[in-house]
This record gives sequence, structure tokens and C-alpha cells, in this order.
Amino acid sequence: MSNVHVIDHPLVQHKLTLMRKKTASTSSFRRLLKELAALMTYEITRDMPMQEVEIETPLEAMKAKVIDGKKLVFASILRAGTGILDGMLDVVPGARVGHIGLYRDPKTLQAVEYYFKMPKDMHERDVIVVDPMLATGNSAVAAIDRIKKTHPKSIKFVCLLTCPQGVAALQKAHPDVPIYTAAIDRELDAHSYILPGLGDAGDRIFGTQ
Ligand code: URA
Repeated sequence: MSNVHVIDHPLVQHKLTLMRKKTASTSSFRRLLKELAALMTYEITRDMPMQEVEIETPLEAMKAKVIDGKKLVFASILRAGTGILDGMLDVVPGARVGHIGLYRDPKTLQAVEYYFKMPKDMHERDVIVVDPMLATGNSAVAAIDRIKKTHPKSIKFVCLLTCPQGVAALQKAHPDVPIYTAAIDRELDAHSYILPGLGDAGDRIFGTQ
């Protein structure tokens, strides 16, 4: 699977295991997701372009590195993507945040957009699209289709968990978009849940089950 990065850092894997447990409470699930998102963000932003600027320390002038270009955009696929944002913003507090809302039309089974709000100047920005679960891949493909119409400089996709079907669907539609995940699970069940997975991420984040 080219262009798929499994973040296998022991801290990431340990926290993911705690989140998978059905006994994890809403508050601990949320806290772990925040911590995990922050850890994953270190890896995902590792190749961000840098530039040198002149600064003065209390002792002398020097050239020092800062991140190059306009601020990064975290684009959250509603609603579960929102659960990842806190942890990512802890690490990159200046990032801009976009939202995209999609629902599946019960007749056509196509993704229909009901909300879309991104920052200005997208053509100058790098975008990280976030959704905890890459299952069938339908929402991720539709969200990236739409975001590409704003012509960002680059797009990455981040999820906590995926499965071979989700990876294949996203790579087929958007082979140029790297996927970052903490695990690739076995398969999808008949209801499009990831197995063994962690259940419904939105319900677990928001306590709606
Ligand atoms: N969405 C979820 O929240 N969980 C899954 O297992 C699949 C899609």
C-alpha cells in the first residue's frame, strides 16, 4: 500500500488500544483521542516546509527556522472529525480550521454536501483532512473531491483507524493524497463498521449512544 503511513509509535498504539475497549468511558475516550491526535500530528507535519528568518536572541542575531507559507488548514469531516481537532490544535495552535458536512442520500447512496466552510486563500495552503474512521471511504473521497475544487497546495488525510476497503477506495479516487492512520484493521462488516474497530466514533466521542 503505497502512500499509506501507519503511525506505530508505542504511545499511539497504547492509547488506541485503550480507546478500543468497550469499557472506555466517554470522557476517557475523548481524552485519549485528544492525546492521540496530538501525537499523530507530530508525525504528519514532519515534512512541513521551513524557511530561515533573522531573529535576535538576548545575546546576538541569528538565522532560525520557522514554518514556511500560509497557515496549515485542518479540515474536519463532520461530525466525528471535530473530536480530533482539539489535539491537533494543541500542537499547531495557529492552524486554520475548515469544516465539511456530508450525508448519504438514502435513495442514490451518494454523498450530499450540507455544509462547507474553508479559510480564504486555499491555493496557498496545505490541508490536512481529518476523520477518525476511514471505513467505506465514501465520505473521505467526496470531501477531498470538494476540497480539491479550492486548489490547495497539498492535501493529506488522517484517520485513527481504517481497513483495506477504505484505503483502496481512497487511493483509487485520490492516489496523490497520503493516508496517515494508527491502524489498518481487518475488514468492514455488513453495516460498514470496521472490525475489530472501536465502534461508532461519533457516538463514543459525543456520548450519543
Ligand atoms: N464509522 C465509525 O464511526 N465506525 C466504524 O467502524 C465505521 C465508520
